[in-house]
Amino acid sequence: MKTKKILWWLAIASFGIMVPFMAPYFTLDPAGSRVPVAPGTVQYPALLAHILFAFIALVSGFLQFADRIRLRNPKLHRNLGKAYVASVFLSGLMSLVPLSCIENFAKAASFLALAILWLFTSWKGYRAAVKHRIEEHRVWMVRSFGMTLVAVSGRLVVPLLLLAYYVLHGFSLPEGREKMVEEVLNANLWVGIVLNFAIVEWIVLRRMKGNQASGR
Ligand code: HEM
Repeated sequence: MKTKKILWWLAIASFGIMVPFMAPYFTLDPAGSRVPVAPGTVQYPALLAHILFAFIALVSGFLQFADRIRLRNPKLHRNLGKAYVASVFLSGLMSLVPLSCIENFAKAASFLALAILWLFTSWKGYRAAVKHRIEEHRVWMVRSFGMTLVAVSGRLVVPLLLLAYYVLHGFSLPEGREKMVEEVLNANLWVGIVLNFAIVEWIVLRRMKGNQASGR
């Protein structure tokens, strides 16, 4: 499949998955939050800010891959790039508040690792762009967007992990259905991080090989 087509499918899947997850927060009412929030604290406003800026990062991130913008309108590409990096930073920093309220340590650690990887890869991409190291900038930005998409892949792997849990427990649910869902939701982000990391590094290596073959 052509890269353009893959990106279209990826964008459709990403918005198709993330918009319903965002929907309960459109009302700005903490009572509608899917994740438990302590009333009267900064947790809910921080979660809202995280979701808003993460969505801007998702939209501007996809637009950065559009040839029509990148090649024909470099100024717009640069401005969208700045919007992407700024929203990753705001969203990533805001996510530290809700993640510090997560009770399960393995789950909290997965969000923390993701936040650090998101901020680090975006910072490296931004610095490479400022220094006009274009190829390096591209590689780090693909890595950064790969981390943005963990929000999608982490949710996409949930049905597979439910199945894996059932199979690995000898086709039974020894501690019940609720425990299965809880355990899967504590592990899914780690799986998303590893999966996206592997896919991104494969893309990066393929691109490097292509560049070497064409003598660039
Ligand atoms: C890539 C780095 C990201 C990190 C570190 C991160 C972190 C977090 C954290 C800590 C929470 C609270 C979870 C809880 O309390 O159980 C959360 C929730 C949420 N995040 Fe992110 N997130 C990231 C990316 C994104 C992206 C790209 C989007 C896309 C719009 C997004 C949308 C959401 C939504 C909708 C929720 C609420 C989830 C729910 O109601 O079940 N996040 N995120």
